[in-house]
Amino acid sequence: MFLIFQDVLFEIHLDFLNQSGIKKDLGSVNNKLKLFGLKVLHSISSSSSANTLQQKKTRETRFIREIEEMLYIIGLGLGDERDITLRGLEAVKKCQKLYIESYTSLLSFGISKDGISTLEKLYGKPLTVADREMVEEKADDMLLEAREFDVAFLVVGDPFGATTHSDLVVRAKKLEVEVKVIYNASVMNAVGVCGLQLYRYGETVSLPFFTETWRPDSFYEKIQRNRGLGLHTLCLLDIRVKEPSLESLCRGKKQYEPPSFMTIGVAIDQLLEVEQLRGESAYNEDTLCVGFARLGSENQMVVAGSMKQLRTVDFGQPLHCLTIVGKTHPVEEEMLDFYRN
Ligand SMILES: C[S@@+](CC[C@H](N)C(=O)[O-])C[C@H]1O[C@@H](n2cnc3c(N)ncnc32)[C@H](O)[C@@H]1O
Repeated sequence: MFLIFQDVLFEIHLDFLNQSGIKKDLGSVNNKLKLFGLKVLHSISSSSSANTLQQKKTRETRFIREIEEMLYIIGLGLGDERDITLRGLEAVKKCQKLYIESYTSLLSFGISKDGISTLEKLYGKPLTVADREMVEEKADDMLLEAREFDVAFLVVGDPFGATTHSDLVVRAKKLEVEVKVIYNASVMNAVGVCGLQLYRYGETVSLPFFTETWRPDSFYEKIQRNRGLGLHTLCLLDIRVKEPSLESLCRGKKQYEPPSFMTIGVAIDQLLEVEQLRGESAYNEDTLCVGFARLGSENQMVVAGSMKQLRTVDFGQPLHCLTIVGKTHPVEEEMLDFYRN
């Protein structure tokens, strides 16, 4: 009976901390002092010889988690504002400041003004758009905020579907900022829709936009290696958002190019150009591929066919990606038949 009473007291105490704004008001007070004070409060409310060590430990962990400011890294999924998880939405509601990462992916409505306000309406608070420059150069400012109050960093897809966000976690840990990650669907698993087994994929490659003077082709060896092992290759296609133009950099005053997103057609042209240069038969225009557009949205598109066939298909609005098919299992073949051009 006493234990039940204690549990109720503990819940009320946590609820009080969250609702009363004490956490927020204490934001400016020295963190250690605050922790010490609240820990004392907690130990008074939970001290009893009737508690097992495990119960005390669980309470202690929950308590610290509740009072410690956090950086929440939250996956938004792939489609639109409705794809955030309940857990993600709960965390968003708790946070005093929200950032949305805008350069590794985007939801079906993009990062247009309307898109952002759709999210703001759902969350009931303003969003700050974090471009590459901000995340790479000013991440520490955001992390320092997360030592004072709860901050959410929203990522389209899953937070770890892009390599850059592991770096953010490492930086947070170095600054002793508590991090909690809330997962969601990623393009890395949504491509499973075409029936190619996720277990039979090799290393993923990124295809950057070629320019007159910059035509990097290190993806070629990776595709070659995957295909040598009979594995499928997922090709992620370049996104250029808020990239400074070369001329403006030369002039020393940054001006940004309009956003661009690589289409499947451009990706195939670049792949075939590199094959022609290298001539090592890693693939050719008859190689079977699957093209994907806007996965997770109502009008997603999935088409299977040779490179030659897919480069003539209009996949429509971004985002696009492409799988180069390796050796197939009969069940994979059956599934692919549903999507053949
Ligand atoms: C860095 S990755 C994706 C990161 C994201 N955090 C995730 O987990 O999905 C970005 C690339 O994935 C592909 N991609 C992302 N979302 C997509 C979608 N909904 N449909 C098709 N391709 C998509 C595009 O090629 C895009 O350039």
